[in-house]
This record gives sequence, structure tokens and C-alpha cells, in this order.
Amino acid sequence: MTRRITDGARHRPQITMLDSAEQVTHAAARRILDYIATTPDPVLGLATGRTPLAVYAALVGARRRGVSFAAVTSFNLDEYRGLAADHPASFAAYMRRELVDHIDIRQGHVPSGLGNAEAIATDYECQIAAAGGIGLQLLGIGVNGHIGFNEPGSPFDSRTRKVRLTEATQRANDADFPPGTPVPDEAITMGIATILSARQILLLATGRAKRDALRCAFGVSPDPSCPASALQYHPHVVLICDRAAAEGLA
Ligand code: F6R
Repeated sequence: MTRRITDGARHRPQITMLDSAEQVTHAAARRILDYIATTPDPVLGLATGRTPLAVYAALVGARRRGVSFAAVTSFNLDEYRGLAADHPASFAAYMRRELVDHIDIRQGHVPSGLGNAEAIATDYECQIAAAGGIGLQLLGIGVNGHIGFNEPGSPFDSRTRKVRLTEATQRANDADFPPGTPVPDEAITMGIATILSARQILLLATGRAKRDALRCAFGVSPDPSCPASALQYHPHVVLICDRAAAEGLA
């Protein structure tokens, strides 16, 4: 019989609670750089959104100080459907702007938002496997507990696929689009099982707005109504958060 994710043991994340978002950035960048320095052929899973912006700036700073990313391969979590890689609001453009164009990374992958979603998803999973799997997955968390673009109700055994975005997520990302340009209502995202296949997960959460998301992720039994609660089935989750977000863990 196939073993399901929910058959596994539950774990507590290793929590580092810090006073400020700046300290969260510093600690996260440190962990990523340590992972790169100590791992042959490091494979990073990367996120977009506001939370990792300062982390990427810190990695760019490390490159300027001489750190090399030449052995690193990365795979982003997700992309909007319907956006070409050169669309300024695409996650591909975000990654080039914030990180990839400023470091000597071997290869940075973002799933394509155009073309046959099923073929792209299958190919993305194959590319991750061919790279040896993700060693360290960086994650943010949506206010509704989403990880990647796995919205509430996403099956814990999901792999990379096309998904529909909730209105709440579209609204949260509205500012990234020029006025009058609607946020796409579909995306392609690594699934929850894809994320849980990473050897280590580094989850960042800052600000009061993430309080309830952390509560549903770690304060109650895992349930697909809160996608991040699947992280309880992963043995190596490091949560770095500020005090405001950590109120949800009390
Ligand atoms: C981004 C992603 C999302 C974000 C989440 C939090 O690639 O997959 O899950 O991590 O929406 O976004 P911010 O950091 O903007 O609050």
C-alpha cells in the first residue's frame, strides 16, 4: 500500500524568534550561506513575495564580498499562468531583478507560466529530481496559510500542477501589477508533497499579519484547510520569525 504523508510522524519546527524583520533576514541569509558553503552541488528551493526580498539583497551583498554561487541550482515555487518570463510582474522577472542577475548562480529555474501546464509540471518535477532533489527550501506563508500557491483545500499529496488562486491571494498581490492589470487567477505551483520532499525547510514569517497563519500551521492538527500545517509532517523545518508573527504560536 502507498504510504501517505499523513501516515508519518508529526514534528515541531525548530523555532528562532527574533525582535525584528531585519534580524530574521540576517538569520535566514546566514542559514542559506551556511548551507551553500557546506553542501556539494547545493539545490535551493526559492520563494518570491515580500518576505524574502531583504534575504535576496543580503545574498547579493554576500556575492559582492566574494561568496560564489557557481555550484548552486535553484527552483522557484511558482509562477502566474499567462505571464511570459519577461512580464515585469512574473516571478521569473522578480527573480532576475532581485537575485539571479546579480550573482553567479549555475542555474535558476522558474516554472513557465505559458504553455501546456501538465507538461510543464511533469518536466519541472523531473528537473528537480535530476538535480538531486531540493536540499533547502525557502518558504514564506500566505495570510490564509498557503505555501507556494497551494491554497486552502490543496491535498497534502499534491505535486507541481496548475491551480486557481483565491480572491484573497489575488488581492494580496495586486500591488505587484500595474493599475488596471488584473492579477491572474491561475498559477503553476510546486505541490505540498513536492515541498515536503525538500531535505530541509526554512520558513520565514514577519509581522502581525502572519500571526493567524502561524497559528493554523503549527498550533492545531494538520488539515488541508491550512496548507502550511502539512509542514508538521516534515522532520526538519526551521521557522525564523519576528515577535509579532510569533504571537500566533503562543
Ligand atoms: C511566493 C509564494 C507565496 C508567498 C506568500 C507570502 O513564491 O509562493 O506562498 O511566500 O504569499 O508572501 P509575502 O512574503 O509577500 O507575504
